[in-house]
Amino acid sequence: MTETPVLEVDGLTVDFTRRGTASLRAVDQVTFALEAGHTLALVGESGSGKSTVVRALSRLVVPSAGEIRLGGARGVRDRAYRRAVQMVFQDPFASLNPAHTVGHHLRRPLLVSGRATRADVEARTAELLASVNLGPTADVARKRPHELSGGQRQRVAIARALAPEPAVLLADEPVSMLDVSIRLEILALMDRLKEQRRLALLYVTHDLATARHFAADVMVMYRGQIVERGPSDEVILRPRHPYTQLLASAAPGAAGSRERAREERAARLAARGTRTAEVREEESGEGCRFRARCPFAMDRCARRPPVVPIAASGHEARCWLHAEGTGP
Ligand SMILES: Nc1ncnc2c1ncn2[C@@H]1O[C@H](COP(=O)(O)OP(=O)(O)OP(=O)(O)O)[C@@H](O)[C@H]1O
Ligand SMILES: [Mg+2]
Repeated sequence: MTETPVLEVDGLTVDFTRRGTASLRAVDQVTFALEAGHTLALVGESGSGKSTVVRALSRLVVPSAGEIRLGGARGVRDRAYRRAVQMVFQDPFASLNPAHTVGHHLRRPLLVSGRATRADVEARTAELLASVNLGPTADVARKRPHELSGGQRQRVAIARALAPEPAVLLADEPVSMLDVSIRLEILALMDRLKEQRRLALLYVTHDLATARHFAADVMVMYRGQIVERGPSDEVILRPRHPYTQLLASAAPGAAGSRERAREERAARLAARGTRTAEVREEESGEGCRFRARCPFAMDRCARRPPVVPIAASGHEARCWLHAEGTGP
């Protein structure tokens, strides 16, 4: 075994109750660990529960069950926890206050976390801006968010997240709202910062190509459950779970991907209005949640799928298809 993971997530479950309806299990017994200097990607279609995992790890929603340990300890006090676990969100415009300068956005967390004093806060602010390749630092610090480009704003959001010197960075689709041309730059920046600062990075994305490029390991989520995980190349190039296979075949570059994405979106919108009793019953059941869409569904898929090791590398699929010898 190597060192203790920075953040351990054990059986995390989040239920949302909606007025007049059965509750929705948005996250269902999710278990994983984040390690220093490593990136773990969390992929899955819209509504699969990725952001809910991030919100639970950020203590913005309260889990119904499960445990989150920081540095091996549970129940870390809010102040220490929030300093150690920082977020970068999808929309840098919404996450920055338009009334405040860039300098203000950085000085506050530096001072509150005790990483700077009144005497050196300007110097620390300049260092932070330089570390995300923004300059001249004095000029940038005086600007307000609307005077910056989308990419520059996201650099500020990253700098702000780094201000308290966190151990964990949770990045929820950090580049999906940015121009395609600058996405890779921002991801490369986060990658470099992860190396330099030994951050444990959770990278939430819809994009399998960047997941494969920037993350050592990938976890695939489908309707609240982790259905497959392992080294990125293994999972993305040799997907085992029928859902991951569908995702991989729908990825840009794969034939028919755009049409499929459009169909998926239309189906999602149609389903939103009419969450039927049938769907709710399935959600409350123990079975594989993909079975209604799965071309290989069998009777035993009504039971919770087993974790099946695929290779010595740690590649796992949660699917009865791969469970020869472990069947019912
Ligand atoms: N505050 C809430 N109250 C009720 N239901 C919620 C709430 N937040 C999320 N949900 C539901 O939980 C499920 C998971 O949502 P979540 O936002 O985590 O998905 P996601 O994987 O991040 O999707 P996307 O890729 O679109 O960002 C969805 O069915 C969503 O409608
Ligand atoms: Mg989300």
